[in-house]
Order: sequence, then C-alpha cells, then structure tokens
Amino acid sequence: MYAPDLATNYLGLKLSSPLIVGASPFCDNIDSASRLADAGASAIIMRSLFEEQIDYEQKALSYLLDTPAESFAEATSYFPAFSEYQLAPDYYLKQIALLKKTLRIPVIASLNGHRPGGWTDYAVKMEQAGADAIELNLYQLITDPAQSGDEIEADMLQTVREVAGSVKIPVAVKLSAFHTAPAQFALALEHAGAKGIVLFNRFYQPDFNLDELDVQPSLRLSDSTELLLRLRWLAVLSPHVKGSLSCTGGVHTKEDAIKALLAGADTVQLVSVLLKHGPGIMGLLREGLRVWMAEHDYRDVTQLRGALNLKRCPDPAAHERANYIRILQSWRI
Ligand SMILES: Cc1cc2nc3c(=O)[nH]c(=O)nc-3n(C[C@H](O)[C@H](O)[C@H](O)COP(=O)(O)O)c2cc1C
Repeated sequence: MYAPDLATNYLGLKLSSPLIVGASPFCDNIDSASRLADAGASAIIMRSLFEEQIDYEQKALSYLLDTPAESFAEATSYFPAFSEYQLAPDYYLKQIALLKKTLRIPVIASLNGHRPGGWTDYAVKMEQAGADAIELNLYQLITDPAQSGDEIEADMLQTVREVAGSVKIPVAVKLSAFHTAPAQFALALEHAGAKGIVLFNRFYQPDFNLDELDVQPSLRLSDSTELLLRLRWLAVLSPHVKGSLSCTGGVHTKEDAIKALLAGADTVQLVSVLLKHGPGIMGLLREGLRVWMAEHDYRDVTQLRGALNLKRCPDPAAHERANYIRILQSWRI
C-alpha cells in the first residue's frame, strides 16, 4: 500500500491536506483553534467581519466627530447592536495576530458584504495583521423587485475588485448557489481578481412559529444531503476555473470529502461536523481519506481532484437535462 500524499495547493498556499476548518466561531478562542490544528486541520477560516459591523463603527465615529445630518439608527435597526457581534473590528485584527503567533497553519480572515464601499479597507488591515488569505463572503438575499441580476452581480464584481485590488494576499469568494449562470459568473469573479471560489453559502432559512405567529430564525446544522448541490457545481466549474475551488456545506464523512475532491475541490471545509463531534473528528477524517486513497491506488490529491468532473462531457447542460428527464420518467404507479 502507498503512503499517499495529502498535500494540496489552495489559493497558492501549500496545505498539508485538503481538510480545513470553514468560517465559524472556532477561531474566537485560541485553544479551540489550536486543538483543531493539532487534530490535523491544514488551515482555518475565522468567522466573518461584516460590512454592516464596519459601516456601523465608521458611522458611529463620524456621528461623534461631526453633527449628523441624518440618523443611521433607522437603517441599522434590523441588525445586531454593535456590542452583539462576537468580534469587534479592532479585536478581530488582534485575534488574527494572536492566531498567527500561535498556529503553524494558514489563518484565513473572512470579510462579509456585497456592496463596494469604505468597509473593504478592512482587507488591507487584515493583511497587515498577518492573515494568509481572505475569504470574501458575498451573502445576500435579493428581495427588491426593481433590482436586476446584472446590477447585483456588477456590485459583487466591483466589491471583489476593491478587495482583491487592495491586498497582495489571495482572496477567495464565497458564493450562494442561486446565480442564473454560475459558470459565467465564476469566470467573471476570477477576472475581477478572485483566486478561488467557495461553494456554497447555506441560507439560514427562517421558519414560522405558529404559537407566536411570528418568524423564527433557526440555525440547523447541515447533513450530508446538502453536499449534492456542491458536487454538481464543483463538477461543472472545475474544468473552467483557473484558480482554486473549495467545498463548504454538507461534508460529514470521509466519503463526503472524497466526493468533493473527485468533483474538483482543492479543499474541503468542515464546520457542522466539528460542532457536532468536536475536533477529534478532524483526525479521523484525515486518516480515513489517507486510507481510502491508499486502498484505491491514489498517490496524491492531484490524481483524485476533478476525476469525476464534467471535463470529458461534451454538453454538460444536455447531460443534466437528460438525467432529469430520465429520473422523472423512471417512476411508474
Ligand atoms: C455557528 C456557525 C457560524 C458560522 N459563521 C460564519 C461566518 O461568520 N462567516 C461565514 O462565511 N460562514 C459562517 N458559517 C457558515 C460555514 O462557514 C459553512 O459555510 C456552513 O456551515 C456549511 O458548512 P457545514 O455543512 O460544514 O456546516 C457559520 C456556520 C455556523 C454553523
């Protein structure tokens, strides 16, 4: 049996394996980040610093310095109060420095917003604080009937240009699954400066509370069924993108991780599985990947990556539609 090489390249960073910790609260605490690194995580992504949080701080500052012409309280009334965010912007930068001092694995900072603006200056501060890369999360839910898809994507691309153009460290973009033409948009993101694409954000879908007749936001951890959407798009995008691809959402077992790599991911991000089982699962998944690769004669991750993508499929759209029709037609009553 071989001793397979798990090393991978992500955003130009050399990682000891494709298994990394996705954006989450683990980096809030140096001990929990260290435990994950000791258990075999090859990189770690911090929770996000939000556009709204940075804007709020900047507006609060100018409110104190100048006489305000307008109140910003109304615009921010839906959002958490400044003190409710777990990491204040200046604390976030200190935490990057502390993590870098303690950990021997790359630390990726996360910026979360979608409109061009002053908040993107934080990319430079993150770089100066020592971050090895930035994950820019473009999460948003579009509800305005007057806004077109083109306008929204133009804003997103400009935001990527601002962030990627201001730093030397690589920038990955974390996307939601609901773009009309994700393949075209992925290439446009690369053109705007993104060195990697992270598939996909999960929407934290609110439920209705029938006793209170109110909306109840809920955070449900993922399960493996959520991986399928990611597999599809990794397989579609991986023959086309030049940069890195990372899978986030629904990776819970070694089989899930292997499927993501076969579909074309360079790295596989873990969050829910770590929250459910603790850092020890990281080591088990890493060992599981190594053993599976040895048993299936894969010497390194490069051989595995993208082996099941749609590169050799002459018409992926027709292939998908044919499978869709076949599945619907296979049911007989
Ligand atoms: C408690 C919690 C906090 C999270 N915080 C962030 C965040 O700050 N920024 C971000 O981009 N994603 C955040 N995520 C999303 C995860 O990074 C990840 O994309 C998502 O959980 C899907 O991966 P999973 O199936 O491995 O959980 C968070 C997820 C959880 C469960």
